[in-house]
This record gives sequence, structure tokens and C-alpha cells, in this order.
Amino acid sequence: MSMQNVASPAYAFTPPKRNSLTHIPGDEGWPIIGKTLQVLADPKGQIERSAAKYGPVYRSHMFGETNLVLLGPEANELVLFDQARQFSSTLGWGPILGLLFPRGLMLLDFDEHRLHRRALSVAFKSGPMKSYLSELDKGIAARVAQWKARPGEMLLYPAMKQLTLDLAATSFLGADIGPEVDQITRAFIDMVAAAVAPIRKPLPGTQMARGVNGRKRIVGYFSEQIPIRRAKGGGEDLFSQLCQATHEDGALLSTQDIIDHMSFLMMAAHDTLTSSLTSFVGELAAHPEWQQKLRDEVGALAIAADQPTTLDRLEAMPLSEMAFKEALRLKPPVPSMPRRAVCDFTFKGFAIPAGTLVGVNPLFTHHMKEIWPDPDQFDPMRFTDEAQRNRHRFAWVPFGGGAHMCLGLHFAYMQAKCFARHFLQNLSVSLEPGYRPDWQMWPIPKPRDGLRVVLKPV
Ligand code: HEM
Repeated sequence: MSMQNVASPAYAFTPPKRNSLTHIPGDEGWPIIGKTLQVLADPKGQIERSAAKYGPVYRSHMFGETNLVLLGPEANELVLFDQARQFSSTLGWGPILGLLFPRGLMLLDFDEHRLHRRALSVAFKSGPMKSYLSELDKGIAARVAQWKARPGEMLLYPAMKQLTLDLAATSFLGADIGPEVDQITRAFIDMVAAAVAPIRKPLPGTQMARGVNGRKRIVGYFSEQIPIRRAKGGGEDLFSQLCQATHEDGALLSTQDIIDHMSFLMMAAHDTLTSSLTSFVGELAAHPEWQQKLRDEVGALAIAADQPTTLDRLEAMPLSEMAFKEALRLKPPVPSMPRRAVCDFTFKGFAIPAGTLVGVNPLFTHHMKEIWPDPDQFDPMRFTDEAQRNRHRFAWVPFGGGAHMCLGLHFAYMQAKCFARHFLQNLSVSLEPGYRPDWQMWPIPKPRDGLRVVLKPV
């Protein structure tokens, strides 16, 4: 079956009538703006207070619409695993990302989503992953060497953002991308910033208008490049992989599909990696004992400083993986996930009508005291094999779960561990005494002041 023939979803839902949700406890805040401002100001506190008052299913009002918040591992399992195909991601994420990243993988549903996911999966198999690792490895080693040459104070978040962008340019687009790289990066930064901008209409002068413009430039670039890459053949970067990827019937992905998937993939990787690598290194700076344990683990790999990192070496870094997982628990880069119910369903005894906008919340679940004792404490030992076996499988969901589970999660671990290898082999990181970084947790966790760290060569 060719992808273009797959029918578009036949479920253009309108929100349910207001009084159809009044049996659900909750409060919708101010007219029109609802709870939007409270959630933006203090997302974790606001949800914890609402959960204490109303329980794990409550009614709220965000961005102009009544929505239900469903909390805890069972809610995550119901909505994300979605065995009964009751929840649309298209109609959940669409209003947030649809203008800038239309038809990205996460914005497709059900059968059509499955077909596209299968086609994209080739770019995440071990062969291509090895090539991405080799680009990441070179880029990270070079950047860490620059940091080592200028030790002292550094703002971690902007440095990580720049590194992640530069790494994406080579691993996603190819080492020989040439002079367009700056233009593409600029266009892409505008799109990503617009994805989380508060004004959702592309009015002149707004971030959203710059984002929409950025998308035009990106579309232009990819449209021009696809035939060139196809004619050239080969190429080990992600873009070249998608140019050769096929559907089940052997047909190449259409130009439009490649544009939509590439734009979405770059966005999905960018802010999430920047956020998680910053919180990972921030925790190591705040916990020198863990930093030393990880440095010892890197030392035990016994790789000379100028030797490349291989997938096998990364496998031998379990403590680093546990520490990264713990950073993802404390500050999940995607703190909440929206869906829209496509049929009536019940949860915890509440009947909920089709059309309801629902949200699940990793940020809340990851701090539930009954699952995570002393939840604000950084403790990678929560991720030993045994500890993980004894928890609900939807208690830790930084990568989501079910059909839409993050396709790039191995890429994320690979980048985090490769970074840990070079960084810890060369540098130690600390915080000034008494300094406590202040994080904004929504829409994507980010330190408000950039996170000041002190680097020293080791
Ligand atoms: C630490 C880093 C990352 C985190 C925490 C993360 C988190 C997530 C989450 C929570 C989802 C599912 C959202 C939902 O179901 O509503 C998702 C989906 C996705 N992510 Fe990631 N992500 C990360 C890095 C990446 C990277 C590096 C890539 C690509 C190289 C990527 C590609 C994707 C794609 C394509 C999807 C959509 C999958 C689908 O709908 O089938 N992500 N990610």
C-alpha cells in the first residue's frame, strides 16, 4: 500500500460540551485563560496542589479549552499504551505543534502512524547508529577540548544548546553540509523557539511568524537537497538514510514525507537533549561523589583520550546510564503529554466522553512519594535492574510509552554516554558554594539563569 493512499483520520472531534465534564472534580480558573498562567508559573506545585485537593483525575482549563489531567502510572499506561486505540496524538499535539511540524511522526495516528514509524525505523538500526556515533564522538571530543583549553566559569545551558545543534548538523545532515549550515541552523532555531512560544498565531513580529518563516526555508532546503542526495546515493547521516528509506511496498518516501519527518526529528531531538544533558551535568556538579563514580567507570573503559568511542564501550557504562535516567526522572524534558479521546472511556470510575482533551504528566508521576521515596533527592541507585523490576512499568516515562514511545531514545542514551565519556575523562565540574540553580519546568525544563558551573581540567 502506498502511503499517500492511507486515509486521513476520520475523527475531527469538537470538544465535548462544557457541562458534560462537570461531574469530574476540578476548577477551571479564570474565564478564557483558565489555569494557563498558574501552570506556566509553577507547573509542579500547581499539579501537586490540585492532585491533593481533587485526586488523580481532575478538570482544568488550559489554552482556551477544558481538559482533564490524569495522574499516576495507571493513567500513563491507559493513555500512552492505549491498547484500545482510544486516544489521538494528532488531535492532542496538533494544536501545539501542527503549524510548524505538520505530519511529524508524533502527529500521526494509529495505522498511518504505524506505517510511517516502520519506514523511519531503518534510520535507527545499529548500522546507521554507528555512523551517528562516530560523528557525535568527533564533535563532542573537539568541543570538550575547547572547554578544557578555557577552564573556569561557564553557562552550561547555552553551551549544551550550541553543542547539540552542532552535533545535529553533522549526524542528521552530514559532515559535508557546507556553507548553508548556518542558515539551516538559524531557520531551525526559529522553528523550535516558536513551538513553545506563548502566542500561537503567526502575527507579524511574533516568534510564531519567525517560526513559520523558518519552516519555509527548511522546506526549501530539503526539497532542493532530496534529489541531489538520491542521485548521489550512500551517505550515512540521518537525512541520507531517509532519502533511501522505503515503505513496505518498496516505494521511496515522498519528498513531502521526508521534509515533514526530518523537521520533526530535528525538533524532537534538540530541546530534549539540551535539557536532559544540562540537568545530567548539573546533577553531577551538585553531587561530586557520583561524578567521581562515573569518572571511575569511564577510567575502567581504559580508552586512550584520542581513541574513538564505540557502541560496545557505551554498553560498559551502566552507572552513567543510571545517573542519566535519574536526571530524566527529576526533570523530564517532556513534562506532560496531550491526547484527545476518540471514544467514550472510563477511568477510576469516571465516565469521560469522546472528544475530551486529556493530559498525562511524567513530571508529577516522577515525584510521587509513594513510588519514589525522598523524590527530590538525586539517587541513580533507583535504576538498578532490581529496583526497576519492582516498579510499575509506567512509573518512569520520560520517553513516553506504547506506539509513540520515543524513537530516538537510544540516540539520546548514546549522546549522553558519549558526552559523559569525553567530559569526565577531561574535566571536573562543580557549582559555586551556596548556588542553587533555578529551573523553569514547563514547557521544557530549562535553567532560568543558564546554570553557572565551574570547569577544571582533570
Ligand atoms: C532525552 C532526550 C529525549 C526525550 C526525553 C524524548 C522524549 C520523547 C517523548 C516523551 C516522546 C513521546 C511523546 C508522546 O507520546 O506524546 C517522544 C517521541 C519522539 N521522539 Fe523523543 N525524546 C528525546 C530525544 C529524541 C531524539 C534524540 C530523537 C531523534 C533522534 C527523538 C525522536 C522522537 C520521535 C521521532 C518521536 C515520535 C515517535 C512516535 O510518535 O512514534 N527523540 N520523545
